Amino acid sequence: MEPHHDLIWDDETAEWYTEEYGDHFSTKLAVELAFFDKTDVVLDIGCGSGTSCRALAKKVSQGQVIGIDPTSGMIKIAKEKSTNDPYSSIIKYMDGRAESIPLDDGSVTVAMAVNSFYHWNDMGKGLAEVLRILKNNGRFYIADEKLEKGHTHGDGPNSDPAHIKLLLLDSGFVDVSLSNHRHGDEEMYFFSMIKK
Ligand SMILES: C[S@@+](CC[C@H](N)C(=O)[O-])C[C@H]1O[C@@H](n2cnc3c(N)ncnc32)[C@H](O)[C@@H]1O
Repeated sequence: MEPHHDLIWDDETAEWYTEEYGDHFSTKLAVELAFFDKTDVVLDIGCGSGTSCRALAKKVSQGQVIGIDPTSGMIKIAKEKSTNDPYSSIIKYMDGRAESIPLDDGSVTVAMAVNSFYHWNDMGKGLAEVLRILKNNGRFYIADEKLEKGHTHGDGPNSDPAHIKLLLLDSGFVDVSLSNHRHGDEEMYFFSMIKK
């Protein structure tokens, strides 16, 4: 995956991204690495074309999956791609961004951000929002591609997983753990944490 954190997300980039990376290995591996109960209510923040949402729906077949994204073109593609999914009845897509999540306090049991965290305009505000919408003991997972020298997409310290870990702890998450996963020539990092 090429660096694209400074992309302007619009209908054109939504189509390009879906074509090039919509089925990137990370979209499904992140879901495989996370823990779910069948009844979980899961929020996918920056859901893009919905590949992770469809994989999530299989895991929480008695729960619900909500995908939010601020790019209307992405939401349109995600809805189209999910229409014939066997679990489509439990998947809902909504316009929304990390910094102002359109959900009530304590309304979800799991939140995820797959290849989206480095696009958030304000990570601190976004993390506060994730803490607000998660129930106590809710889980939050972040997955992103690792690039050269162990860094991820993004600018300055925010491209360093060690710095991101401090940000997560400072925000108030507990049991924050970081792991790395190879897929051929590519690598992904995966954060797991809890809201107490
Ligand atoms: C690299 S794509 C990843 C999409 C999908 N999660 C995947 O892995 O295929 C990043 C997504 O983040 C969304 N995004 C941009 N700014 C955001 C924000 N502030 N909050 C949440 N999502 C955002 C974009 O619209 C885009 O769909």
